[in-house]
Amino acid sequence: MLNWNIRSQFNTALSSDEFRTISQEYQQTINSSEFGFFYLPENKNLISEAKKAYQQFAHKKYFIHIGIGGSALGAEMLIRGLGKKTQTQFIIINNIDPDDFQQKIENINLKEAVIYVVSKSGTTAETTAALNIFSNLLKKEGVTENEFKNYFVFCTDPVAGDLRALSKKWGACALEIPSNIGGRFSVLTGVGLFPSLFFGINVDDLLRGAQDVMKHLSLPEHSKNFYQCGAFFKALHDKGYTQTVMMPYSSLLKEYSAWFTQLWAESLGKEGKGLTPIPAYGATDQHSQVQLFMEGPNDKVLVLIEVEKFRHDFALKSDLEGSSAQKLSAFSLAELMKAEFEGTLAALNENKRPVVHLKINQLDAYSMGQLILFAECLTVLVGQLLKVNPFNQPGVEAGKKYAFQWLKSLRD
Ligand code: PA5
Repeated sequence: MLNWNIRSQFNTALSSDEFRTISQEYQQTINSSEFGFFYLPENKNLISEAKKAYQQFAHKKYFIHIGIGGSALGAEMLIRGLGKKTQTQFIIINNIDPDDFQQKIENINLKEAVIYVVSKSGTTAETTAALNIFSNLLKKEGVTENEFKNYFVFCTDPVAGDLRALSKKWGACALEIPSNIGGRFSVLTGVGLFPSLFFGINVDDLLRGAQDVMKHLSLPEHSKNFYQCGAFFKALHDKGYTQTVMMPYSSLLKEYSAWFTQLWAESLGKEGKGLTPIPAYGATDQHSQVQLFMEGPNDKVLVLIEVEKFRHDFALKSDLEGSSAQKLSAFSLAELMKAEFEGTLAALNENKRPVVHLKINQLDAYSMGQLILFAECLTVLVGQLLKVNPFNQPGVEAGKKYAFQWLKSLRD
């Protein structure tokens, strides 16, 4: 089971009364029909509709994922972290940079592609722009609108939004993001499940991992430790530790840091409060950001993720001359990674930098499911403790409004 351990010079232990109040409020949130993220791993319909759609498109050579924010980051995290080499190539359109767009579609035969358009609202400008472009490109290839159902799959709200309407018009497959699930909490719906199937990811294990965290946190003896972790972030936030470094010691979890960044930032940053997430990964960032984390402003909580066992390893044994090669010669690459992890942990401790040490046995679909649900639950808990609504994002609306005004003024 996912294991977490707090190291800090501060005592942030909850009293029994505090524990009772926090847990009652949290239980109300997760059991509310307004927010569906907690019980999502138990939703069998979502996985079976994703598998059904996969059967229809499994032969495709290209998987083009269109989405932004919560509609893209989770899928990217799964494919980059767990995806295997298959006959299908993954292409993600998660921005509106025309040059990047061109690079990504070059050398692709669109007739051999499935184009997965993901948008909870079904109205997001960046995603709609890509949809417009791909439908034009397909038309240019001689594909008629009547045939679009053989190329496009949507993932959107069950009722609302333009994508749902379009899917009906085209007779195209449209997977569901339940109404009570917001973008950044949606990776365990078709948003992440459908692409995973193309890249050999065991989605049943993914959901099982998430479900085990769900069960684990429902047991009072374990949930206490979890509430303690949330209270730790809140207490340190109040002491001025307003930044959170997410630093897995794994290249394959680099996109987990990116996914977490959005979850933590968009959920908690409001009303003048929040914890600024800093994505990092070890050991690479030891040669980049770690200097700042060690000796810069003491305003960060570091979340270090340790992977106990790597799937592969390499002996460092060498007959090269030179003490640097010989110093490593008795060890393996995984041991060096572990040593660097332990070394950083000890040094952070010595410098009184607060740390949450998360440990997974190995990186696979099961542990990824655990990491996902744990981060979502923690985000919601910290939101509750900071007294902000973790499920909305009012701060991004004004920018969108002005962008459209500006666009309109170009043709007025
Ligand atoms: O987490 C969120 O709700 C947002 O980041 C959305 O995912 C993002 O704005 C994209 O929205 P949509 O899925 O409606 O296209």
